[in-house]
Amino acid sequence: MIDFVIDKMNGDTSGRHNESRQGEAYAPFFNDPEAYSKKFYIESYGCQMNFADSEIVASILNKEGFGATRNFQEADLIFINTCSVREKAEQTVRKRLTEYKKIKNQNPGILIGVLGCMAERLKSKFLEEEKLVDIVVGPDAYRTLPVLIKEAEGGQKAVNVLLSREETYADISPVRLDSNGVTAFVSIMRGCNNMCTFCVVPFTRGRERSRDAGSIVKECKELFDQGYREVTLLGQNVDSYYYINESNDETITFAKLLEKVARISPLLRVRFSTSHPKDITDEVLQTIAGYENICNYIHLPVQSGSTRILQLMNRTYTREWYIGKVDRIRELIPDCGISSDIISGFCTEMEEDHNQTLDMMEYCKYDMSYMFFYSERPGTLAQKRFKDDVPEEIKKRRLQEVVEIQNKLSLESNKKDIGKTFKVLIEGDSKRSDKDWMGRNSQNKVIVFPKTAENPGTAGLKKGDYVNVAVTDCTQATLIGKITCD
Ligand code: SAH
Ligand code: SF4
Ligand code: F3S
Repeated sequence: MIDFVIDKMNGDTSGRHNESRQGEAYAPFFNDPEAYSKKFYIESYGCQMNFADSEIVASILNKEGFGATRNFQEADLIFINTCSVREKAEQTVRKRLTEYKKIKNQNPGILIGVLGCMAERLKSKFLEEEKLVDIVVGPDAYRTLPVLIKEAEGGQKAVNVLLSREETYADISPVRLDSNGVTAFVSIMRGCNNMCTFCVVPFTRGRERSRDAGSIVKECKELFDQGYREVTLLGQNVDSYYYINESNDETITFAKLLEKVARISPLLRVRFSTSHPKDITDEVLQTIAGYENICNYIHLPVQSGSTRILQLMNRTYTREWYIGKVDRIRELIPDCGISSDIISGFCTEMEEDHNQTLDMMEYCKYDMSYMFFYSERPGTLAQKRFKDDVPEEIKKRRLQEVVEIQNKLSLESNKKDIGKTFKVLIEGDSKRSDKDWMGRNSQNKVIVFPKTAENPGTAGLKKGDYVNVAVTDCTQATLIGKITCD
């Protein structure tokens, strides 16, 4: 578990919605790469929304005759979909760019493009700083990629970083990249209006807008028909989803949207991320409680346990209000998994504030948390208004204490599950052995169990199937069990 601590301490992980893909870069893979005359390679950083955007980009590039490759050496076009949320995330991208620039030096015909939040933040400065970059495209401008690529092929530098108030890519069917064929992410909104003072996202992603509900349900239904069994609805703040349909006769809130997606089939699990505590309503909680296939799991980032710091962060809730929300979740959905995001060492944070965060963690008994030390971002309200005055070694020491408490809480939470039986959706082979399956329960905990069931009735299981698993043991990160027919 030390790896986990070090990873987080370095701020290495900038993604967050799905542990297994956190901060990992990936390159896509197609079944029939020969069907395309040219090849592109794309690698993604940051949150799941960025990964979902890469799947939109892949769809646009396919139509332009570019097939994906996992091997950047054979690509005509190299794209990096970038994240700006912490300085470390940007450093990682810069390092990757220097590697790709070497390739470009050897083969000047290759085009290198920077997409996503860092492209939006730095705009054409990227072309001045990183001379070998040919294309810079912000998150709302992917539809113009075909034109930009043509410009770049003609030897011009191509930039489009215009943000939009409307763009949701609703009509573009994402090409699923690196998929397990069982779980998929579906964007339901873009942008963020919240202006948490530490956060760069409102500047890189623009105003909040909700995607057409009909197109969301259609995409989820198609996924189900293709054999997918779980969708995660994605947005920076899903609980403020709000859509009035075209005939103006239906207002769709997030609770209504959840219900519509849950009704596609009882066999389709529904998850969502992220919930800002201020916006999650009783209606949403009751909808979760009312549908077996809406997972009992809420990612409810607290950021800090101190009301004073929460106010400086502009989170708009107090410590007591957040605790009230957690109490309400436990009342309406008693077995709900809850996870959090925590920032250590925000401007002016004192030992007393930090201790309140540790206290808050103990109270909420988070099953899991993503933990970071504060990284000042240019242009944010915090950078303009406050001094980044907590010394780095104190930030790191506090983060270490936060991580230690979370490790303890995760282990305690997992130990409580020993002896319980959960319905698990099989996602594939376990990482360690192809003799074991890996899946998740409703609470989003990973469960590993042997394929060879003692009961012959369970033979022929495959990924995408549901199975009951009795938990017999655990580590801090994983439940271990065996298939049961009880
Ligand atoms: N919309 C999501 C969060 C997006 S960013 C939400 O509101 O929960 C993901 C997480 O990164 C945040 O929850 C926060 O914990 C962390 N983060 C954002 N800006 C940061 C910064 N400047 N320094 C350190 N961590 C930051
Ligand atoms: Fe950033 Fe706050 Fe918006 Fe989340 S809700 S993306 S932390 S501004
Ligand atoms: Fe990073 Fe942009 Fe997501 S800054 S966390 S990739 S919205």
